[in-house]
Amino acid sequence: MASLRRWVEAERSAGRRVALVPTMGALHEGHLSLVRIARQRADSVVVSIFVNPAQFGPGEDFDQYPRDLDGDAGLLAEEGVDVVFAPSAADMYPEGDATRVRVERLTEGLCGRSRPGHFEGVTTVVARLFNAVRPHVAVFGEKDYQQLAAIRRMARDLLFDVEVVGGPTVREADGLAMSSRNAYLAPAARLQATALQDALGEARRRVASGETDARGLLEAVRRRIAKEPLAELDYAELRDADSLESVDRVGRRSVLALAVRFEGARLIDNTVLETP
Ligand code: PAF
Repeated sequence: MASLRRWVEAERSAGRRVALVPTMGALHEGHLSLVRIARQRADSVVVSIFVNPAQFGPGEDFDQYPRDLDGDAGLLAEEGVDVVFAPSAADMYPEGDATRVRVERLTEGLCGRSRPGHFEGVTTVVARLFNAVRPHVAVFGEKDYQQLAAIRRMARDLLFDVEVVGGPTVREADGLAMSSRNAYLAPAARLQATALQDALGEARRRVASGETDARGLLEAVRRRIAKEPLAELDYAELRDADSLESVDRVGRRSVLALAVRFEGARLIDNTVLETP
């Protein structure tokens, strides 16, 4: 941590912009696309790798979460990343730690309902990473739409001098959004998981042909997910894309977000819908 701080200080004093890409490792093309966005927006890139215990609830997959620090470091070296920051739990949560960061309202519905405490764990660790690395810019994936919204709000509310940037979701050839958790899917579930992208595509087509009523759009999404015997819908909701408040029709910018459980894995995806 001390050597990271010295390095960042030297970069900042030399007038170089520093970007941070926070990750939990098990890197895939989605993460690497965020690294490339960071590279375009800064002179130096730091990638943090930390499987953050505070964002996993009891019974969630903290122990099983894939970890491959050597493999990750190899991929990041190929991308020309300047620093890989892989703190220990004691670095991030010092002995006697008693401080949490909670973004209200934005984090209460959607994934916040089925994962109580999750976003508090995320914003707590991201605030600490911002303080440890002091980046000018930080890049997060848009697949985790509610997480990105909560981090943006936290950075604004706590006066962090960090520009928070979202990177587009990267997809497998069949449309499934890339996620480290896709590795949990058994072959049959993996095939059925394309239902998320199909359901969002169906909603986009309906909006393009003039349908804006949330009830009809969400019904179509639910019907598509229900066709897959291994899929169990957690939620499908239409929200304002900025405030994340529920809306009953597609407005100027709305987001349709969904979470679906398959045996052993809970997948999320979203699409931003705009009326023409
Ligand atoms: O999206 C993730 O991988 C994590 O939630 C993050 C932002 C690295 C915080 O632990």
